[in-house]
Amino acid sequence: MPDRPYTLLSCSVSMDGYIASAASRLLLSNEADFDRVDAVRASCDAILVGATTVRKDNPRLLVRSQARRDERMARGLAPSPMKVTLTGRAELDARADFFTTGETEKLVYCPRSCVGNARARLEPVATVVDGGATLEMRSLSGDLAERGVERLMVEGGGTVHTQFLTADLVDELQLVVAPVFVGDSHAPRFVRDGLFPWNPARRAKLASVRQLGDVVLLRYALSTRFEDD
Ligand SMILES: NC(=O)c1ccc[n+]([C@@H]2O[C@H](COP(=O)([O-])OP(=O)(O)OC[C@H]3O[C@@H](n4cnc5c(N)ncnc54)[C@H](OP(=O)(O)O)[C@@H]3O)[C@@H](O)[C@H]2O)c1
Repeated sequence: MPDRPYTLLSCSVSMDGYIASAASRLLLSNEADFDRVDAVRASCDAILVGATTVRKDNPRLLVRSQARRDERMARGLAPSPMKVTLTGRAELDARADFFTTGETEKLVYCPRSCVGNARARLEPVATVVDGGATLEMRSLSGDLAERGVERLMVEGGGTVHTQFLTADLVDELQLVVAPVFVGDSHAPRFVRDGLFPWNPARRAKLASVRQLGDVVLLRYALSTRFEDD
């Protein structure tokens, strides 16, 4: 069994590379793409986002389609995948939709220094996992694999993308480009600064391009584990 889940990073960006506006959430995709993302969610065992995304966007991270939920339950799974977040300071609201919606397991990874605080705030609504002295994405991925997660969907934000990509833990990147500009360098970008395994000397492999209405989906194969449809 692989020591980490098959990891798929899914993100929508503006034409100038931003994933939100500086002040608020930005709906970059269209209905056809939201439905495609819903199908991808339904195919995964866990969905992971950073704490800032939980605070700013208040996402539910559930499978929307009843047919897809039914199909998962027929396979003996929860209607929606497990939800996972990570935090270094546990300033998360137990009433956030991440915690209150869906009959699925919710995990919060944090460094050891904040486990006590996180458990006091969140233990009734989530399982708090001690991530060690420093929370590293490789050990987090290994821990998820031990919990039975074979397919992980990473859904933002930029800080989390950066750590998974720079640690070379992503097998597949699904990047949707929306036909808008944000034009504000204070807005969050797809990734932060970092040393990425793909660069001018080592280009990533573009696996497919698909148009969905006014957005385009670019699928990149980032490892030899990449699963073509
Ligand atoms: N367009 C899209 O597809 C998309 C998708 C998702 C999100 N977004 C946008 O992305 C923005 C947020 O992105 P972001 O980069 O600011 O934040 P983020 O990646 O969502 O979350 C960052 C936070 O996660 C926690 N964290 C991350 N790595 C950690 C580590 N190794 N150890 C401990 N804690 C860790 C920290 O939480 P604490 O601060 O609690 O310590 C950190 O501040 C939002 O504006 C959202 O709208 C866009």
